[in-house]
Amino acid sequence: MKRKEDDAIFVGIDLGTSRSSICASSGTREWIESYVGWPKDFISLKVVGKPVLFGSEALQNRLSLELCRPLQHGMIKEGIDRSEEAVREIIKHLIELTKPASEQKIFAVVGVPADTLKTNKLAIRNAVSEFVHSLMVVSEPFAVAYGLDLLNNSMVIDVGAGTTDFCIMHGSIPTEDDQKTILTAGDYIDEQLFSYLNEKYPNSKFNKNMVRLFKEKYSFVGKVPEDIKVEIPVDGKPVMHDITNEIKRACESILPAIVETTTEMIARFDPEFQVKIKNNIVLAGGGSLIRGVREYLQSALKEYGQCILKSVDDPLFAGSDGALKLAQDMPVKYWEPL
Ligand SMILES: Nc1ncnc2c1ncn2[C@@H]1O[C@H](COP(=O)(O)OP(=O)(O)OP(=O)(O)O)[C@@H](O)[C@H]1O
Ligand SMILES: [Mg+2]
Repeated sequence: MKRKEDDAIFVGIDLGTSRSSICASSGTREWIESYVGWPKDFISLKVVGKPVLFGSEALQNRLSLELCRPLQHGMIKEGIDRSEEAVREIIKHLIELTKPASEQKIFAVVGVPADTLKTNKLAIRNAVSEFVHSLMVVSEPFAVAYGLDLLNNSMVIDVGAGTTDFCIMHGSIPTEDDQKTILTAGDYIDEQLFSYLNEKYPNSKFNKNMVRLFKEKYSFVGKVPEDIKVEIPVDGKPVMHDITNEIKRACESILPAIVETTTEMIARFDPEFQVKIKNNIVLAGGGSLIRGVREYLQSALKEYGQCILKSVDDPLFAGSDGALKLAQDMPVKYWEPL
């Protein structure tokens, strides 16, 4: 018998501070940087040619736009700008990328930073409800865990941009107690690197975006893999700058808090389970791409006993892949009809 959902399209969305992605049962896999921009005035509208721009296109045209990155430190920014509207635009845009047929029912699982889930669940629900027929909002690390079949005695550490989210799985849907969020993640590294470079090279001209790109290209922790030199203008002329130590210090600055939170969360479990969880930790998020980070954390955690850490293969889509899998597996009674 044909079920009602047979004509539906299932989507998993990872709504992130810096990047948002979608995976759909139709095969679509797309991502954008989580920026939304609206033309400032009618001249800007003529220049950019459309009423709303996303991701890197919005960033490139930022001088003509009212630009918004709606999530900050894992929460929807309040009051300052059009953040809720921007979340709505991102969701709409991502869903349009899956090209659903008109009238096709959309079942969406949306993964958001754990704190957004706590404080902005209603706002997220409102933002998504216009575009889908059924919805479930889950935390990002739970979506990652589900996608990797890590349902029991495991831990996901998702090092994103605004937050690092932790989630322990012990054979049931994780509760608030099983999850924790800290604010030391990619954006924090960028701030540290920016200030270290300002200190070392006060006469050189660079901005936060350049600093983030340096990090994404050269990030490492632990042993120095090579000398890192980048071109930065000084008095209008390009000059090579050595940034090796600054990259190392900035990337390592997030690690003590990650180690501390991991050990604290695991310590709450029965010793028998502690050993199992410690042997099944997975590192996700863009921060898992920092060279040497898996080895560094594994050896720091070994001080508290045997421990095995793996990294996800595809940090960009691990959250949305997991959310899609959840959407496809979820029994009807869990869906929230809209
Ligand atoms: N090769 C890399 N080395 C270090 N950091 C990287 C690298 N590639 C991406 N990043 C950083 O990872 C972060 C983005 O990761 P991710 O897409 O998981 O975050 P997000 O889901 O948008 O954020 P959040 O989960 O906090 O909402 C950014 O800070 C980005 O600069
Ligand atoms: Mg994320």
